[in-house]
Amino acid sequence: MHPDHNTGQQRCFVRMDVLFWIEVCHIEGCKDGRRLYMVRKSWLQDNSQLVAHHYNKLENKGLAERKQSRIFHLRNFNNWIKSVLIGEFLQRIKSEVGEDARINVLDIGAGKGGDLLKWQKGNIHHLVCSDIAATSMEQCESRYRDMRNRRNHGNPIYTLETITADCTRTRLKELYKNPSIQFDLTSCQFSFHYCFQSLDQARVMIRNAAECLRPGGFFIGTTPDAYDIMRRLKASEGLSFGNEVFSVTFENKEEFPVFGSKYHYKLDTVVDCPEFLVYFPAFQHLAELHGLKLVMKKRFEDFFAEQHAKSHENQVLLNRMQALETYPPHNHPEDAPVPEQYKHAEDKVRQVASEHPFWRKKLGTMSRQEWEALTLYIVFAFVKVDDSQPQS
Ligand SMILES: C[S@@+](CC[C@H](N)C(=O)[O-])C[C@H]1O[C@@H](n2cnc3c(N)ncnc32)[C@H](O)[C@@H]1O
Repeated sequence: MHPDHNTGQQRCFVRMDVLFWIEVCHIEGCKDGRRLYMVRKSWLQDNSQLVAHHYNKLENKGLAERKQSRIFHLRNFNNWIKSVLIGEFLQRIKSEVGEDARINVLDIGAGKGGDLLKWQKGNIHHLVCSDIAATSMEQCESRYRDMRNRRNHGNPIYTLETITADCTRTRLKELYKNPSIQFDLTSCQFSFHYCFQSLDQARVMIRNAAECLRPGGFFIGTTPDAYDIMRRLKASEGLSFGNEVFSVTFENKEEFPVFGSKYHYKLDTVVDCPEFLVYFPAFQHLAELHGLKLVMKKRFEDFFAEQHAKSHENQVLLNRMQALETYPPHNHPEDAPVPEQYKHAEDKVRQVASEHPFWRKKLGTMSRQEWEALTLYIVFAFVKVDDSQPQS
């Protein structure tokens, strides 16, 4: 019998920045009845365990520490984008099925549960969170328990189910407590790009997103814009671009396969991992094979402009979430030098002040570095139109 046919024990080792598996396979059926073990060492070329390892060891920082971070506003802005995106599509669902209808949500690559509160605000009924990083899933559960304990009496909270799994290799349907569950919404925030390591992984990920989505349900997410990454890479002299808060580094500038176009992404102290370009036409094609039709694809800055103009509620939320910083800062003398990162804001202050002399000379902005980092992303949304079997 081939050793692959046995269920082997796997052990994971870390050596420098590389992870590798040693797989001990028990080979059955030897003639003399003795048990044989084969040790198979395979270098982990697929990066998934590196990514899991990175997110597992990421510390949860308190608010005071987060406020000191160079990307405090960037993170808040990203959270605003997610809140508005989630709110927009939950509203579309509710306008179809009714405000009080039962809503089930699947969150793929949910991490430590940074969106738990958003789901509570959206009044959903059941949430399935899945992530490759076991520690993140534990922290997600513990955050949920805290939230549940804090809630006001009479204010119900959704039920939570967590699944630790590589969503690019595991069929989630086989792991749900209720295998016939139907989701109204699948959300994949800042996580989808990991599946573009290979065609097989992208297929599995998209099947997970689509398979249990009811017709009329949505698949929404945020992911880096491969076109913009390529544009910025081409404009740079070397294999890397970025600034003091983020960097994107490629291994070469010549070959960009549709799947497996790897780059290293670093964002301040919070992300330091391999990622993969998402060639959107391929994503869209695979999604269509799973009955998903594209309804929205927008760059962050366009989505922001549209949603900010759309409702007063979104503007209030932006303030409440401290997604922008005030410029000039309070206690800033008029003749103080303008920091390099805020020239755009200073120009705007001068322009508006010249047009409106009684204006209070304060606006909401962000450092140039943070803006360059966040405008690397897009939001996307698909609707499930077809419930037939996926085509291959
Ligand atoms: C940048 S974090 C985003 C977390 C969360 N969605 C958010 O918006 O705060 C990316 C997450 O994707 C998860 N992830 C990466 N590869 C994955 C995979 N193959 N399967 C499941 N989750 C994965 C990571 O563990 C991490 O929690």
